[in-house]
Amino acid sequence: MAGAKDKIAGTMEFPPPTPQPNVYPLSWENVTTKLQEVWESAQKEYWDPEKLPWDTLDVNKYTWEQRESIAYWWTILSVFDASAPPVFASALIKTYELHEEDVVRRCFFSVTRDEQNHEQMCGLVITKMLDHTDPLTYEPKTDLGRRLQKNAKWLYYNGGRYWDGFKNAVPKYSLAVLFSSFLMGEIAAATIFHQMAAGCDELVFKEGFRKIGKDEGRHMAIVLTLMERDYPKLSDEDKEVITKQIRAGYLFLSAVLFEPPMEFWDIPEDFIENQREGERVAREAGFHIPDYETKKDNWKKAMLNLKGVLDKYDTEFPAIPEVGITGREITDIEMEDIIPVF
Ligand SMILES: [Fe+2]
Ligand SMILES: [Fe+2]
Repeated sequence: MAGAKDKIAGTMEFPPPTPQPNVYPLSWENVTTKLQEVWESAQKEYWDPEKLPWDTLDVNKYTWEQRESIAYWWTILSVFDASAPPVFASALIKTYELHEEDVVRRCFFSVTRDEQNHEQMCGLVITKMLDHTDPLTYEPKTDLGRRLQKNAKWLYYNGGRYWDGFKNAVPKYSLAVLFSSFLMGEIAAATIFHQMAAGCDELVFKEGFRKIGKDEGRHMAIVLTLMERDYPKLSDEDKEVITKQIRAGYLFLSAVLFEPPMEFWDIPEDFIENQREGERVAREAGFHIPDYETKKDNWKKAMLNLKGVLDKYDTEFPAIPEVGITGREITDIEMEDIIPVF
């Protein structure tokens, strides 16, 4: 703290300039006016997960295997969605440090708030399905439930390695670099949630997915608009990082949107087999998880979509042979290199 002897106000009329980056901009300038519309829809479409029609959900109509399998899917989702609030909160802080436009700050605030809702939604479903607040300390009732919990523990372990990497990446990279990773998560998320909303029997899931899908669509619009603003002046160095991050994002997000690639995720041999069995049981119970081919097709479309955006800005796309996309060969990606989120 500044002592009395450090006071300078008596020695000059105006204070010296404040060292930058300073976390608070005293400015509300708006240039990217397109984002104002997105912000207004975010205000209008704000929803409360607790107010969904939970009274229509009777968990007792499901067997324990079904309950554990459905909860498992939400657990996979929460490995991604429970890290999204802190991730976007740090991106929000960055928009303040960079003295981003007022509307950009508001948009990042809305994403952080939405992602917190998505996390709440995961928690509400898991708690109801398992009758326990935590999928890791829950005591499984069936053999499949035990195997799925083992999977969940490995996913949690793997996801835990990503936060340190992200924390290092945020100050290091420009917002522009972060955008392409964010966009990847949003494109993928918007696709899967709309599909699940259409296919799920249970009203409360349908409603939740519909609202989450809408939120993700807005997040996508925010990122796309900012890319339009910033990508025409992207440096070659940033482009290199982006190409690598897209490959990293593919590997990371595959765990929820497709299947976790064994060369990247540190998971046991029987992981995929257990997951497929859980998905089959959930599907039979009316919980619409897209099948292998549909997931693969979704993922490919999402990647091509993203490639279309990056092509416009002459940014090279990585090879994604898993879904038949050719491009620059990228190897040696570690969990610590990951930026993408949902
Ligand atoms: Fe989300
Ligand atoms: Fe999102």
